[in-house]
Amino acid sequence: MSSYERVLAPCLRLLPPEAAKDIVGWGLRRGLLPAAPAFQNPALRATLWGLSFANPVGLAAGFDKDAAFLSGDLGMGFGFVEAGTVTPRAQPGNAQPRLFRLPEDKAVINRFGFNSAGGEVFRRNLEAYRAAHGRGQGVVGVNVGRNKDTEDAVRDYVYLVRTLAPLADYLCINVSSPNTPGLRDLQREDALRRLIGACREALDGTSGVAGVPMLVKVSPDLDEAGIDCIADAALDHGVDGVVLTNTTVARPSDLRGAKRDEAGGLSGRPVFARSTEVLRGLRERVGDRLPLVGVGGVFTAEDAYAKIRAGASLVQLYTGLYYKGPGVVREIQHGLVELLRRDGHASYLDAVGLDTAAPPIPLAEPAVGATALAAAIA
Ligand SMILES: Cc1cc2nc3c(=O)[nH]c(=O)nc-3n(C[C@H](O)[C@H](O)[C@H](O)COP(=O)(O)O)c2cc1C
Repeated sequence: MSSYERVLAPCLRLLPPEAAKDIVGWGLRRGLLPAAPAFQNPALRATLWGLSFANPVGLAAGFDKDAAFLSGDLGMGFGFVEAGTVTPRAQPGNAQPRLFRLPEDKAVINRFGFNSAGGEVFRRNLEAYRAAHGRGQGVVGVNVGRNKDTEDAVRDYVYLVRTLAPLADYLCINVSSPNTPGLRDLQREDALRRLIGACREALDGTSGVAGVPMLVKVSPDLDEAGIDCIADAALDHGVDGVVLTNTTVARPSDLRGAKRDEAGGLSGRPVFARSTEVLRGLRERVGDRLPLVGVGGVFTAEDAYAKIRAGASLVQLYTGLYYKGPGVVREIQHGLVELLRRDGHASYLDAVGLDTAAPPIPLAEPAVGATALAAAIA
C-alpha cells in the first residue's frame, strides 16, 4: 500500500467527496504535490497521430475540467492528459451533492453535469500552460462538450473546435456523458455523422490546425448496432481515434456501496469488463485503421495490459487515481514493462489487439500482399 493509500486517502475520505477532490486540485495547481518526470522506457514509447507519447498511460477527462493544473497532472507521471470537458459558456453543473463514493466496489458515481468555467477561461489556462511549458512536457488533449441549455449542439462543438484546436495536441468530441440530457443521443447515426462532419470541416477550415487529431468518446452502454454505427461513421468522416469508454448508467446487480442507487455515471472497477468488451468489439470492426484509447476501471498494470491486448493504443484512468493516488501511475508503468518482458514484446505496440479476433474486413495492403504471396507460392 502506498503512503497515499495509508495516510492521505483516509484523511480525504473524512471530507465530502467533492471537497476532497477540490483540495487535491488546489494542491496540484499550487505545485504542492511532488512532481516526477514522465516515465521513460523504450518499451512504452509511441508515436501516434504524429505525437510523441513517453508512455501510454493517460489521465482521463473530468479530472481537470478547466485545464487549470496541467503541469500538476503531467507531474504525476502520465504520458498524456485529457483536459475538459469544457463547454462554450460557463455553467455550474448539477446541484451538490453530485459525487458519491462506493468504496466496497472501488467505484464512484458522478452527476456533475459538465460544470465548466467556459471556453474562454479554458483557453486562457491552456495558453498560459503552453507559454510556460511549450509542447514538450507531455501530450495535452482537449475534451469538448455542449452547454446544457444550448439550442444548437453542433454549433457549440464547432465553436470549441475552432477556438481550442490551435492550443490542443488532440481534440476529443464527447458525446457520451450521461449527465447532460440528450447528449448521448448524439451517438445516433444521423446525429453523429452531422456532428463529426461539421467538426471535421471546422478543423480543416481553420488555418494551422488541419493536422490536429479529432477523437470521439463513446459510452459503454452501446449495443452491437451502436458499435457498428460508431465504426462506420468514424471511418467515413475522418475521425482519427475513439476513446472507449465514458461512465455507465447501468448498475450491476452485485454493487455493494450504499450509494449505488444515486443517479449518474458509474466508473471504476464495475465498468472495466463492459468498457473492455466495447473496446474489443470496435477493434474487431476497425482493425488497425483507427487507434483506440481504452478507459474504464483501470487500477493495475494487468488492467492496462488487458485494454492494450483488447485493442487500445493508449490507456486512461480516473477512478483508479481517486482510490490509489498518484503512485498508481508509476505502478502501472513499471508493471507494464514487466508484463511485456514476460511475454517477449519489445514494445507495447506489439501487444495491441492480440486478444481480438481478426477484423472482418482485411486492410487493403496486407490483403493485396497476401494474395500476391499466395499466387507466388502456387
Ligand atoms: C468525477 C468524474 C468526472 C468525470 N467527468 C468527465 C468529463 O467531464 N468528461 C468526460 O469525457 N468524462 C468524464 N468522466 C469519465 C472518465 O473520463 C472515464 O471515462 C470514466 O470514469 C471511466 O474511467 P475510470 O473507471 O478510470 O474512472 C468523469 C469521471 C468521473 C469519475
